[in-house]
Amino acid sequence: MSNFPTPEPVLVTCGLPYANGKCHIGHLRTYVPADIFVRALRKQGQNALFICGSDAHGTPIVVNAEDLGTTPKELVNKYHLHFQDIFRSMEVDFSFFGNTDSPANHARTNSIVEALIAKGYVYPRVIRLAYCAHDERFLPDRYVEGICPYCGKVARGDECDQGCGKHLEPGEIKNAKCRICGNPAKYREQEHFFFRLSSFGSFLSEYLKTLGGTSNAINYAREWAKELKDWCITRNLEWGVRFPGHDDLVVYVWVDAPIGYISFTEEWANKTRGDWRQYWLHDSRIIHFIGEDITYHHCIFWPAMLKGAGYTQPWAVVASGMLKIDDKKFSKSRGYVVWVDEDYLDHGFHPDLLRYYIANYTSHTKELNFSWKVFQDKVNNELVGALGNFLHRTQHFTNKNYGVIPDGDVDKEIFDKIASTINTVIAAFDEYEFKKATDAMMELAQYGNAYFQSNEPWRLVKKDKVACGRILKNCLQIGKALVLLFEPILPGNMEKAWKQLGSQGDVHTAQFEEALVTIPAGELVPPEILFTKIEDKKIEEMEMILDNRIKIAISKERKHAEDAKTEKTEITYEEFQKLDIRVGTVLTAENIKGSDKLLKLQVDIGEKRQIVAGIAKSHDPAGLVGRQVVVMANMKPAKLFGVESRGMVLAGDIEGAVLLLPEKKVKEGTRVR
Ligand code: MF3
Ligand code: ZN
Repeated sequence: MSNFPTPEPVLVTCGLPYANGKCHIGHLRTYVPADIFVRALRKQGQNALFICGSDAHGTPIVVNAEDLGTTPKELVNKYHLHFQDIFRSMEVDFSFFGNTDSPANHARTNSIVEALIAKGYVYPRVIRLAYCAHDERFLPDRYVEGICPYCGKVARGDECDQGCGKHLEPGEIKNAKCRICGNPAKYREQEHFFFRLSSFGSFLSEYLKTLGGTSNAINYAREWAKELKDWCITRNLEWGVRFPGHDDLVVYVWVDAPIGYISFTEEWANKTRGDWRQYWLHDSRIIHFIGEDITYHHCIFWPAMLKGAGYTQPWAVVASGMLKIDDKKFSKSRGYVVWVDEDYLDHGFHPDLLRYYIANYTSHTKELNFSWKVFQDKVNNELVGALGNFLHRTQHFTNKNYGVIPDGDVDKEIFDKIASTINTVIAAFDEYEFKKATDAMMELAQYGNAYFQSNEPWRLVKKDKVACGRILKNCLQIGKALVLLFEPILPGNMEKAWKQLGSQGDVHTAQFEEALVTIPAGELVPPEILFTKIEDKKIEEMEMILDNRIKIAISKERKHAEDAKTEKTEITYEEFQKLDIRVGTVLTAENIKGSDKLLKLQVDIGEKRQIVAGIAKSHDPAGLVGRQVVVMANMKPAKLFGVESRGMVLAGDIEGAVLLLPEKKVKEGTRVR
């Protein structure tokens, strides 16, 4: 028995993207399967509302806006439009896409926080908080950097993002430094407000027994529910939703962000005369699609908050595994990223291809690896070779030899095959197994190809046109089923294919069941090719773009590390005086065997010195003799290629080396000061 349709109203949401950067494939890993799921629900006759929006608050956005010299509001508006645009292009079709800075979300957040206060779930406590004396302000979340108290790795104020991944409460981080000025943070006491999460232990362990979704979320949550700490839910910030009655505090972004799910439902209802209460105050099925990394917030914190304030809790939490690029951990700073606009859509790739890749590469809860080579293989072999090929050859052959869809029945064997495929697909969607679902669809396409091939219609048509017509009718029926089945994955192309089959109505609202209705005899237009092979050249171009980005990131990182190592600090004149810098004249110069970089020089600096200089690539030894140079004379002696060096010739680090020269010839040994 399938989970859907069900009489309770169904609401599907996606984790809200921070409006703080561009959309990349990592985002799509959650949004595309959610969109597929919603389309598949509709194909089972289930009405479903699909909600998402921009996450507008939190310190990263404030910090980033400050860095860019803009306001958080402007930054958020810019990326809000960007995400809407990308979702439209990728055919991720939300019923409503909101913004957590909307008046509706401010109001709903206030009302929920007030309800929690009234019920005693929020209490004040004085805590020690990072404070910067230089900038005269408290340092919430990302305004501090320091050391994780649990694992000792570098962490930011609210999260150990490079180490153990733990959520850090205000005041927990060690060696806190101000991110604005770099000075060590001081600590100051201030009253903040806490959510009594610890009192939801028994509720949560009961609740988590029935919560649906994927095991990667639920199993972790069950462990976490055994040990709950209260959460500090206020922050010293301007940007955000005010904490009721305290003008200097806003609520923590993880309070008002999920409340966006509710307020966006309200906004949708206002626009469409719908009813938001049926989703959030009565029995319903709320299904959250999220990335695995925000499981704690959705399976622990959020249900407790909803329970505390008297709202309906989620029915399922579906967590997608993380993303890799070329088998490397996804990382914007290291260049392992594929941007949806500039690296995909702008190159003319159809959204359906990436949607198929995301759905079909692996199980939803496993790590998804993106590589251009695999992308090419999957498109060329599966979408072009199996699905596209079957649809095209069937329609083309029928059109050429009959001009119409032949009259007559479809064999039971064919309907049985279609019915069993539909069952497999629905069962897979019920388990959020998008790979299983799409594999079953592809298997039907292969079945169709084999059926066509083994019946040899090109021969049969010459012997028995009626018998051949029956074979083609069967093939066209399989084609119709494929179009309906694949619509959630490939909405754009299946819309075209639907029309090409002469089918009436809207393929997006047609249901899976219709695949078992005999395709009517009638007109058949010459088919257009839906999917075309991706050339090697295109893939090489895409790989080059990625490679270059990684190279640039590596050299940036290296430079960063160098700069950090040789950080220029201020020194006193006394310290400078310790340097023995003198003018000298080159007496002899020669290459050093085995090195193409080094020259051996004898230099008169008031005394004769042997110096090895790394200037062979930019200077001819002969041209140096007799010239004056500037020498750092009290370098520690060193041996290079077995040659002793006692001093260093100073040069500008430009295109190799540009030697420093005195303005006019001076006596050897003249001091530089
Ligand atoms: N913006 C958050 C993130 O990207 C997700 C917020 S989801 C919500 O990690 F539940 F808070 F809305
Ligand atoms: Zn840690």
